[in-house]
Amino acid sequence: MSFHAIEQAPGRLNRSELAIPGSQPQMFEKAAKSDVDVIFLDLEDAVAPDEKEQARKNIIQALNDIDWGNKSMSVRINGLDTHYMYRDVVDVVEQAGERLDLIMIPKVGTAADVYAVDMMVTQIEDAKGYSKRIGFEHIIETALGMQNVSEIAAASKRNESLHFGVADYAASTRARTTIIGGVNQDYSVLTDPAEDGSRDVHWGDMWHYALARMVVAARANGLRPIDGPFGDFQDADGYRAAAKRAAVLGCEGKWAIHPSQIALANEVMSPSEAEVTKAKRILEAMAEAEAAGKGAVSLDGRLIDYASIRQAEVLVEKAKQISG
Ligand code: GLV
Ligand code: MG
Repeated sequence: MSFHAIEQAPGRLNRSELAIPGSQPQMFEKAAKSDVDVIFLDLEDAVAPDEKEQARKNIIQALNDIDWGNKSMSVRINGLDTHYMYRDVVDVVEQAGERLDLIMIPKVGTAADVYAVDMMVTQIEDAKGYSKRIGFEHIIETALGMQNVSEIAAASKRNESLHFGVADYAASTRARTTIIGGVNQDYSVLTDPAEDGSRDVHWGDMWHYALARMVVAARANGLRPIDGPFGDFQDADGYRAAAKRAAVLGCEGKWAIHPSQIALANEVMSPSEAEVTKAKRILEAMAEAEAAGKGAVSLDGRLIDYASIRQAEVLVEKAKQISG
């Protein structure tokens, strides 16, 4: 290990994260009763300009009045390039800061953006005498944000997670897409011709680089990497496939833009019973190996070593978190 210790963000369960427009208060109660881990009440792109003020009021009232149980509550503020943003922070944190766990910052571009919001939130928390510190979730969804992702990830003690905002990222990079978070068949390769001259098309994951780059920046700074939206909420298989490939890369959660996606995210982002049992066996086998003075042994015909312990510990810890 490097001598540089990575401080981990608070261990918050974040398998699923539900987006609810602040302008749709009739959706709040149902969301509060759902099985989602994190809810973000949106003031940004799901809210039209002339609804922003009312949405802010709805959110403040809902944070104070609704029983959200043990869910983590977040508010997505408007971007730093808009005049809505300062009021979002001031009004929501002043009037509902006690129940607010997280602030989601969209289209974050530089570490200075994070610094600016941190400064505002710190002043309000101090003035109000809050003892709890609100955490930050950053959406990496512009070319600038991706270019500066490492600095953004390291920019504040409040940072908890990085989110891949695939829709805006596509717009910012001018990527060719049709469905939010889906794939494009033009991102593919052709196999060489077989004997009969036929060729296969292999589709690729056009988001691989962006997601992998964000995962590295998040993990190198002790933050949770979270995959963003999948637009076609009728396509459960498509959602599951997108969530699985994000999980394989190291993401620990995915957005739900529709309540039907919550169960899918929770399912994919929770370790299976078989995985937890295997992890426990690895820990037992390694404990025995260590007692016998060995650093590596075989289990079920495969080599396991100290790296296996670290992976198994992460899994067992996650299972504990889920079972509460
Ligand atoms: C989320 O905000 C996105 O743009 O995908
Ligand atoms: Mg966006």
